[in-house]
Amino acid sequence: MRKESQPHPSLENLIEGEDLGFEILHPGGLEITQELANLCNIHAGSFVLDVASGTGETACYLAEKFGARVVGVDGSDLMIERAREKANQKKLDIEFRKGDAHRLPFDDDTFDAVISECTICILDKEKAIGEMRRVVRPDGYVGFHDICWKDRTPQRMKTRLAEIEGEKPETLEGWKVLCENAGLVDVQTIDRSSLIPPWMKETTKNLSLASICKIVRKVIRLWGFSGLTEVWESERIFQSKYTGYGVLVGRKQNG
Ligand SMILES: C[S@@+](CC[C@H](N)C(=O)[O-])C[C@H]1O[C@@H](n2cnc3c(N)ncnc32)[C@H](O)[C@@H]1O
Repeated sequence: MRKESQPHPSLENLIEGEDLGFEILHPGGLEITQELANLCNIHAGSFVLDVASGTGETACYLAEKFGARVVGVDGSDLMIERAREKANQKKLDIEFRKGDAHRLPFDDDTFDAVISECTICILDKEKAIGEMRRVVRPDGYVGFHDICWKDRTPQRMKTRLAEIEGEKPETLEGWKVLCENAGLVDVQTIDRSSLIPPWMKETTKNLSLASICKIVRKVIRLWGFSGLTEVWESERIFQSKYTGYGVLVGRKQNG
C-alpha cells in the first residue's frame, strides 16, 4: 500500500529526487534554450533570472555563450548544490539561490529577462507567471517553454497526468491567455511539439542500466509494484499524440 507521506510515483519526482545523470531536464536541450534566449533579447551584460534552474546547465550556458549575468533559483537543495558545483567547476560567477517560484525572493523590476524551462506546469501557473512578471523590469521579457495539450485531448488524460505527475499543462492558446492575464503584452507562441518524441527516446537511451535498476528498486520500495504501473502510465501520456510542447515569450509593458 502507498505510504501517504511519500510523494507520488512520478517520473518528475524520481528524476529530481536524485542524481540519475541527467543535466538538462527539458525537451530540446540547449537549442531551445538558445531560441528562448534570443526571443528574450538576452545578450552580453543582460541580467537574467532562471526560475527553477535545475542542475544549472542553462544558467551556465547563458553566462558562457551570451555573456549574461545570471541568477538561478530552485526549490530543491540537491539541484542548488549540483548547480553551484557546476558553476564552480566552470569558474563562472553565478548566484544560485534556494527559493519558491511562487514567492520569488527578489524585488520588483529587477531583471532584464526572466525565464523558466519546463516547470510552470507543475506550479500554480497564474502565481508563477505573475511572479516572473513582477521581478522583470518594464519592457523586459518573460519567457518559458512547457508542455502543451493538443486540442481535443481527452479530459481523463489531463486528470491522470495531474494525479500522477502533478502537471497541469495548457493548450498553447491557453498558455498565451495566462500570460496576457498576468499582464504580459506582445505574447508570441511557437509550437515545438516535434521535440517531444526525440527527447523521450534520447532520455530512455541515456539511462544507464544502473540508473534503471536504481529507479525500479526505488519505485518498488516506496510504492510497490503499482508504482511501476503509474510511472509507465505517465510515460505513455508523454508519448501520446495529445502531448505537445511550446515556447512562450511576452513583454512587461512600460507604464
Ligand atoms: C523539470 S525540472 C526543470 C529544471 C530546469 N529548468 C531544466 O530545464 O533543466 C523542474 C525543476 O523545478 C524545480 N521546482 C519545482 N517546484 C519548484 C518551486 N515551487 N520553486 C522553485 N523550483 C521548483 C525542481 O527542483 C526542478 O529543478
